[in-house]
This record gives sequence, C-alpha cells and structure tokens, in this order.
Amino acid sequence: GTVPEHTPKEEFGDLVAALPRRQQSILELRLYQGFWLPEHWVPGTVVFQRRFSPRPDDVVLASYPKCGTTWLKALAFAAAARGAYPPAAPGHPLRRLNPHDCVPFIDEIFAGGEEAKLDALPSPRLMNTHLPYTLLPDRVTNAGGCRVVYVCRDPKDMVVSLWHFLRRAKPDLSFVETFESVCDGTVAAGPVWDHVLSYWRPSVARPDRVLFLKYEDLLRDTAANVRRLAEFMGRPFTAAEEAAGDVAAVVELCSFDEMKGLDVNKAGSGTAGRYRAMPRDAFFRKGVAGDWANHMTPEMAARLDGIIREKLQGTGLDF
Ligand code: A3P
Repeated sequence: GTVPEHTPKEEFGDLVAALPRRQQSILELRLYQGFWLPEHWVPGTVVFQRRFSPRPDDVVLASYPKCGTTWLKALAFAAAARGAYPPAAPGHPLRRLNPHDCVPFIDEIFAGGEEAKLDALPSPRLMNTHLPYTLLPDRVTNAGGCRVVYVCRDPKDMVVSLWHFLRRAKPDLSFVETFESVCDGTVAAGPVWDHVLSYWRPSVARPDRVLFLKYEDLLRDTAANVRRLAEFMGRPFTAAEEAAGDVAAVVELCSFDEMKGLDVNKAGSGTAGRYRAMPRDAFFRKGVAGDWANHMTPEMAARLDGIIREKLQGTGLDF
C-alpha cells in the first residue's frame, strides 16, 4: 500500500485532544464511545474502526486486560495452527515466542500503520483486542462478519492481577487506588461491567458468532474449553487427533507452568509491540483463581461483588 502522510497519532490528534481525560496510575485515559481507553490506544482504534476489512474465517480474540488474554492467545494459536505446528513438537512457535508475538493486537497494528502485517497473515487469521464489542467495526459484528472469542474473569482477581502488572512499571502504586479505579469504572477499557456485558449479550443472541469464556472455567477444565474453541473456530478435533492426544498436548503446551518456565517468557524486558516496555515474566504471575483473598478485605470484596451483581442483574451472567 501507500505510505500514509501522517501517522494515526498525528492524524487523530485533535479528535483525541477533544475527549474527556482522566489519569489512572501510569495511564492517561480518554473517554471514547463510552469507555476509558488509554490515550495511546485511541488513534489505532479509530483507524481499526474505519479501515479493517475482515475475512469470513477471521477469529478475533477479545478480553478485558488481565483476564486471561495471554493464555487465550496461546490456546487459540496452538489449536488453530496445529496442522502446521503439532502442539507436542519441540520446535513449536510458542516455545520460542511469547504468545503476544504469535497473535497481534489489531488496533496496535493500525496505530503503527502496519496494516500490511494483517494482510500477510495466513487464513484463518487470529488477532486480538481489548476493545469492547460495541467499539468493534460493524464489518466485524454484522452478519457476514467474523467470529469473536471473549474471555472474562472474576473482577476481584482481575484487580489483583492488574495491580501486580502496573506495579512492574510503578512500584509504589497503591492497591486501594487500583481497586477504587475499577470500582468507579475509570480504568483502562473500563467500566469492566460494560465491557463484559458488551460481549455477553451477543454471545447469548448469536452463540455461533461470539464464544464467551471464563478464566475460571478454563482453569477447571482446560481440555473441554480447547475442544470448544477448536469447534467454534470451525476446526473441531478429529477422532484421530483425539486418539493421538492432541488436545492434551495443546493444554500442556499452554499450561501456566510450561509457559512461565520458557526462556522466552523469563525476565529480560521486551515483548511484542504495545507491551514492549513490560518485562516478559509480567504476563505469568500466579495463574490461579481466588488470589483476591490475599489482597483485599472482606469488605472490599463484598463492595466490588455488590457493584458487579447490580450491574449484571437480570442479564443471566454472574461470577
Ligand atoms: P495473575 O496475575 O492472577 O497470575 P492477561 O494475559 O489478560 O494480561 O492476564 C494475565 C493473567 O493471566 C495473570 O494472572 C497471569 O498469571 C495469567 N496467565 C498467563 N498465562 C497463563 C496460563 N498459561 N495459564 C493460566 N493463567 C495464565
């Protein structure tokens, strides 16, 4: 393609500057179409909304940050690419690349003017986003658009994970401050309840198009969810693959201990794009459910649970 005269950041500088602004720890947030996005996500989001052309077999992996993005990327990549890369093979890309290097962030690609990278991906393409469903382009969400997989997590564990993650960049960040920002919705990609519901509703209405997963369910029965994922992507595991133990091989390849133990995911700064400033091991902390109990008082937990329960009331979704 042609080289744009301006970067998206320059092109949409005025648009960004006109948006309401708040600070959340190290992040400058802007209110864009009802959600608080880190300011540097906005230009790429606008270009994504305007210019992305999906292929019918595309799969968009979506998540609220710190809810299992890295794991979902690994599982989906391992399942989707199992023809080219047998999951048990020692040379599997996930053994030498961080999952964020295997599946690109769509809006980040657009922010960098690197659309050619998306065009070059072999079908079925796997891409990911932290944007809510309502901010995805119509061409993705309309009939004839592409498939979307969403992963969410108990918001209490999300807060804990987010705090640990942000602390890698700002060691003196207080837990209470992070907790409060989640409770009042002024947090990256927040409010979290609106984000989750934006995917929950279409997953109920169009289960063939939006697959809704929970981190806790993935932990409980990873294999069952790998099967669902493969089937949803249009590539169910065959009887022969089942017999060969391919599902278990995907689960093992993407397991927390396996991934955390890889050299590529150990200390030493640098990972793909957006997270290049974060040390790689920041994506593999503890990998369990219920760590919130070690970080918040019962009162804090009850308060956040109460907020979430109220927002999700009548939707059929709970945590
Ligand atoms: P904790 O901080 O609670 O350990 P994201 O990938 O959306 O940033 O989410 C990060 C969370 O997922 C972290 O949670 C991280 O440890 C956990 N995680 C990363 N890889 C995982 C894996 N392979 N299995 C289970 N959990 C994983």
